[in-house]
Amino acid sequence: MSKPTPIWTLTCLTLTLLLILSLSIHAIASEEDELGDLEELLAIDEEAEAEGQGGSRATEAADVVSKAQRIVIELNSENTRRVIDGNEFVLVLGYAPWCVRSAEMMPKFAETANALKETGSPLLLAKIDAERYPKAASALGIKGFPTLLLFVNGTSQAYNGGFSAEELVIWARKRTGFPVIRLSYVDETKEFTANYRTFLVGLFETYEGTDYEEFRKAAVADNEIQFVETSDIEVARVLYPDLKSPNQFLGIVKSEPEKYVAFEEHFEKDKILNFLEYNKLPLVNVLTELNSVKVYSGPVKLQVGLSLLYYSNLAVKFSFSMIYEWKCFGNVLQADEFKNIRSTLQEVAAKFKSKVMLIYVDIKEDNLAKPFLTLFGLEESDEAVIVAAFDNKANSKYLLESDPTPSNLENFCLGLERGTLSQYYKSQPIPDNNVAVVRTVVGKTFDDVVLKSSQNVLLEVHAPWCIKCEEMSKQVEKLAKHFKGLNDLIIARIDASVNEHPKLQVDDYPSLLFYPATDKLNPIKLLNKSSLKELAMFIKKNVQASDDRGISTHDQSIRDEL
Ligand SMILES: *[C@@H]1O[C@H](CO)[C@@H](O)[C@H](O)[C@H]1NC(C)=O
Ligand SMILES: *[C@@H]1O[C@H](CO)[C@@H](O)[C@H](O)[C@H]1NC(C)=O
Repeated sequence: MSKPTPIWTLTCLTLTLLLILSLSIHAIASEEDELGDLEELLAIDEEAEAEGQGGSRATEAADVVSKAQRIVIELNSENTRRVIDGNEFVLVLGYAPWCVRSAEMMPKFAETANALKETGSPLLLAKIDAERYPKAASALGIKGFPTLLLFVNGTSQAYNGGFSAEELVIWARKRTGFPVIRLSYVDETKEFTANYRTFLVGLFETYEGTDYEEFRKAAVADNEIQFVETSDIEVARVLYPDLKSPNQFLGIVKSEPEKYVAFEEHFEKDKILNFLEYNKLPLVNVLTELNSVKVYSGPVKLQVGLSLLYYSNLAVKFSFSMIYEWKCFGNVLQADEFKNIRSTLQEVAAKFKSKVMLIYVDIKEDNLAKPFLTLFGLEESDEAVIVAAFDNKANSKYLLESDPTPSNLENFCLGLERGTLSQYYKSQPIPDNNVAVVRTVVGKTFDDVVLKSSQNVLLEVHAPWCIKCEEMSKQVEKLAKHFKGLNDLIIARIDASVNEHPKLQVDDYPSLLFYPATDKLNPIKLLNKSSLKELAMFIKKNVQASDDRGISTHDQSIRDEL
């Protein structure tokens, strides 16, 4: 059975977990609200068809969505080309009725259509059932579900915004010529702040000049953050109370303890974008089903080019990963404990801003916590607080093994930043089996038993999911019984799924490695096809030098077994 090396397994695992994570986010979010909405929607549609508008079940909110649903054009084999070519901007959702994530997108898409309609956006929203109209869908370039594509004068562009209705609207505005919201009056500004939690404020004396142009360019280049502009100091003060300059000012507003951050560089597009990357996420990210994709997206994407529908902000994410090389993860059992630790985290996070990113995961949130715990082999841990970190780029991980006091936490982050921490390797607890016929080796005993021992070591490397491992284990047991009493040979096995060691790099499971007593750093890989006899001959030959007599007494019995 071919499997990746442990390093690669880590990447795979991380990514698979993140993938599962991000997918489950949607599945879960949908179960909670969207699917309900959708059902409601469908019911409303049916009612509307049957008896006209205003069925008894139509709540005000559902009514809004229902109306919106109707302003999303349904594409089919006849109208697709006409709609796409006949409009300057069309955002197409390709879906399949059976696909859960498609189902989740529908209400958001409808909500977006509604919001855009109200703002007089030139963007037309259309959806196509790619299962029912496969030809038309594939002609548009729809390959998976759900797919979002923007057509500008008939030519498609990938969608690269967020997936909440609000983010869809922000993205749509940016792509259709309205990248910035201009606010001129205090009243409308108050209304705006009631609706938006994160945004970038620009105060300009006049809406012209190179600084202003750079601001506009950044607004178009960014895919997620709503840019707001004003030339009125009172309006600006509603948005950002502590203005640093009454003439020209730029700052981000967020909904977290670090609520306001002022931009203090030259007004250049790239500097503004960079500023956003540094500042758009909170200092301490409390991981939730909804934000986890955003929190992880950058580095993961850069590393392996994984492209999930959910994150595709190429340029921006690139710089993101350059900035946040490290991530700290903390798990805390009690919600109240978090309040206590939060100010500590906040302080540490502020000190390491842009270098170490702090993420807080509630250990009770299985979907969110499990991936980390598995990565560190700590599923069974009963620690209330686990502080762990990993470097996405180097694929290395670290564990804070002392108490998570503020100073330990700070030193841990400092160690990460300076690269002075030792990497963490997974290990099961040390077993008490020195007298077993086949000794169990774990991550923590690999050094002592395999590398530092004076004997030859035959090591079976297995994993629980490997089908052929059992067969190999039987072979190894036979060998162990046969060579029992041979002092110069240790026969051992290690479960590589829960035990790691930097010197244990295995491509296939099962693997059989022979570590000669004289050269522990160059184990000999025994081919999996070797018969029991061949293996025994090999061991005999290699151990012979150190223990001749022991082998010869066993020669007859191995022949008997075979
Ligand atoms: C789409 O085509 C029209 C007519 O040729 C043109 O005026 C418009 O600028 C185009 N839109 C974009 C975004 O290129
Ligand atoms: C041995 O390895 C080869 C290729 O590496 C594989 O095709 C074969 O199935 C393996 N046999 C066993 C018994 O694991």
